Amino acid sequence: MHAFTIAAASFAALASAVPHAGHSHRHAHKAPALAPRDDSTFDLTVHNNCTGAKSFGLYQVSPAFEIIEMSDPISLEPGESACINAPFSALGMRLSGTADKGCDGQWSAQTLFEFGYSEYNGMTGTAYDLSVMEGSVLEGIAAYPATPLCESKVCSATGCSLAQAWTQPEQEGEGSPADTVCYHGKQAFDVVWCPQ
Ligand SMILES: *[C@@H]1O[C@H](CO)[C@@H](O)[C@H](O)[C@H]1NC(C)=O
Repeated sequence: MHAFTIAAASFAALASAVPHAGHSHRHAHKAPALAPRDDSTFDLTVHNNCTGAKSFGLYQVSPAFEIIEMSDPISLEPGESACINAPFSALGMRLSGTADKGCDGQWSAQTLFEFGYSEYNGMTGTAYDLSVMEGSVLEGIAAYPATPLCESKVCSATGCSLAQAWTQPEQEGEGSPADTVCYHGKQAFDVVWCPQ
C-alpha cells in the first residue's frame, strides 16, 4: 500500500515534531492530547506562482488515516493569492494544491505544506514541514513564517535537501531534519507553490 506508506510518513512527521534538543524523534509528541481546546485560527496565505491554475484546500489526516476536508477548495490562477483561516490548535493538517481531486485524491503523492499545533515547556506554536514524497510532480514549494525567528523552508522544482522537505519516509531514521516547530504562539505563514 504505497499510498498508506506516504500518509503514515506524513503523519509521523507531525506526530514526532518535537524540539531538536537531543530528543529521540521516534517517540510520539505528548502535547497533542493535552492541548487546550482553542478554536482560533492563523492566516495561511497561499500564492500560486505556477504557470497553471491550481486548486488549494486544507485537509486533516486523522489518527485513523481518514482525510477530512477542513476548508472549501479555492481555485487560484497563476499569480493569484488567497488567505485561508487555518486552525491553530489542530493536528495532522496539510495544505494541498490538488483540492480539485477531492478527499480521495489526497492520498496521491503530492507537494504539501504540513502543519499542526505544538506545545512544549509552556510554549505553544506550529510544527510544520514541506513534503514532496517520491512520485510527486516536482513543482517546488516554500513556506515563510511571519516571524523571522522561525525557519523558512524552500524546495525548488529541481529537488530539495533533507532539511528542507520530506522526500522519503527513511528520513525518520536521519532525525527527521525537515521537521520544524515555530514556538512563537500564533504566527501567520505564507506558502508559495512554484517559488523559483
Ligand atoms: C515566482 O516565480 C518567479 C520566477 O518564475 C520568481 O522570480 C519569483 O520570486 C517567484 N515568487 C515567489 C513569491 O516566490
